[in-house]
Amino acid sequence: MSKRIFITTPLYYVNAEPHLGSTYTNVICDSLSRYHRQRGSEVFFMTGTDEHGEKIAQTAAEAGKSPKEFVDEVSATFRATWDSCGIQYDHFIRTSDPHHVRFVQDVLTRIHAAGDIYFGEYSGLYCVGCERLYTEKELTSDGLCPQHLTTPIEVSEPNYFFRMEKYQDEVRRRLQADPELIRPEGFRNEALAMLREPIGDLCISRPKARLTWGIEMPFDRDYVTYVWFDALLNYVSGLEANGLTERFWPAANHFIGKDILKTHAVFWPTMLLAAGLPLFQHLNVHGFWSSGGQKMSKSLGNVVKPLELRDRYGMDALRYFLLREMVFGQDADFTEQALVTRYNADLANGLGNLASRTLAMAHRYFAGVVQDSAPAESVDRRLADAFARASRELDEHVPALAFHRGLEAVWRAIDAANKYIVETAPFTLAKDRAALPRVGAILHNCTEALRVAAQLVAPFLPDTAERLREGLGLAAARFADLELPWGEAFVPGHRLEKPVALFPRLDRPASGA
Ligand code: MSP
Repeated sequence: MSKRIFITTPLYYVNAEPHLGSTYTNVICDSLSRYHRQRGSEVFFMTGTDEHGEKIAQTAAEAGKSPKEFVDEVSATFRATWDSCGIQYDHFIRTSDPHHVRFVQDVLTRIHAAGDIYFGEYSGLYCVGCERLYTEKELTSDGLCPQHLTTPIEVSEPNYFFRMEKYQDEVRRRLQADPELIRPEGFRNEALAMLREPIGDLCISRPKARLTWGIEMPFDRDYVTYVWFDALLNYVSGLEANGLTERFWPAANHFIGKDILKTHAVFWPTMLLAAGLPLFQHLNVHGFWSSGGQKMSKSLGNVVKPLELRDRYGMDALRYFLLREMVFGQDADFTEQALVTRYNADLANGLGNLASRTLAMAHRYFAGVVQDSAPAESVDRRLADAFARASRELDEHVPALAFHRGLEAVWRAIDAANKYIVETAPFTLAKDRAALPRVGAILHNCTEALRVAAQLVAPFLPDTAERLREGLGLAAARFADLELPWGEAFVPGHRLEKPVALFPRLDRPASGA
């Protein structure tokens, strides 16, 4: 039976448009989905938008639109952005979808009937940006929200509460028993620290007198559901909508940024236990992108827009930069200059160069026809070994989310192939007619190197892999076969296509920045 894996991004708030942070999460999830699919696993990849709550109601009002009109518009922008970025999600969920609304109400009804919801007085310091209460200890020394650096508002009103604390010990035990439940370890430790303090019960309603934009509480029409209690349930409601819960839950791999650790490491598992569902398989937490050394913000004018970068450099160059530059779990900085440097070094001089030299020489010396690769010399065997090693290392690093190391491993093999061309010097040998069979063998090996490189990069750089596949004249089914042994992909006589410039060298950032 093939492995099953359910990959999720957070649901993005529709108060802002897609930026580098959300693009990063979607690129990782898309790459991982493609990686597992390529290896025969059954994957379900879901992304979507988080549309209820105070923040969205406020933003819609500021835009002079009804919440519904506003969320429809921005949600469509998210979807269109991911589509133009080639993000291959299986399901795009919106928290305003009727099936999601029904699912949330069903869970609330069940938990209420089981006695896990009670009515009480709610008071505390609330950050509308985060849509959650903060304890005094969590605030900065000036009493500000640590994410938004804004003063939280004091709220005090009667509301419904979920008996979250009842499940605290059980969640802590599960987290202690499974070192892989939250990754990387630093975030697991942070979550454990949160679970050592009293977590209290969770206020899960808002009075309609103050906020109507939400899912109505099924047992009290005067209240709507707290946005996080609503949004977190998408991870199961989205499967339910597709009749896939049994198939994919609990094979869930959630991907989130570090600012929403508490809601995912504390609220979500307690909710699952109360709903009688098993916990997810992994909560994978990544760091933050800054832009030119500063927090990205509209007022600083340094918000990085994915579609602009895609238009300037191509989506694969952006994907490569994001995956190669950020160590999963740590913070990283974005500048166009850094992207251009990586582009030139790794894509133009590395993979691009290997492709253009190989195909150009195959056409110059053999009219694009693949020759016999025998007899193999030791330098040829070393090249094959370099790619076998890259493939093993990729399979070690990607499941551990060390995308940067996986790509580094592949690029070591690509560099080895470029060095192989220098070392074996087919362009010099070709001057001697008697050496032509050896030239043919060398180019056959380079063609194999390109084929394997294209297969290995396919989940991360899908457009590039497709262009290489076409350049190599390989049928899709043959290209999909990762088990194809080295030396067997091309029979002598196979025709290669004309070389194409995959990554033309860039002088400086295209924006002139
Ligand atoms: N709606 C909630 C998530 C609900 S999931 C059931 C939310 N939305 S958000 O739009 O504010 O943030 C979405 C994601 O973007 C979060 O994972 C957050 O960490 C991530 N990022 C926001 N800014 C970021 C960077 N500058 N860098 C990396 N990721 C960042 O929270």
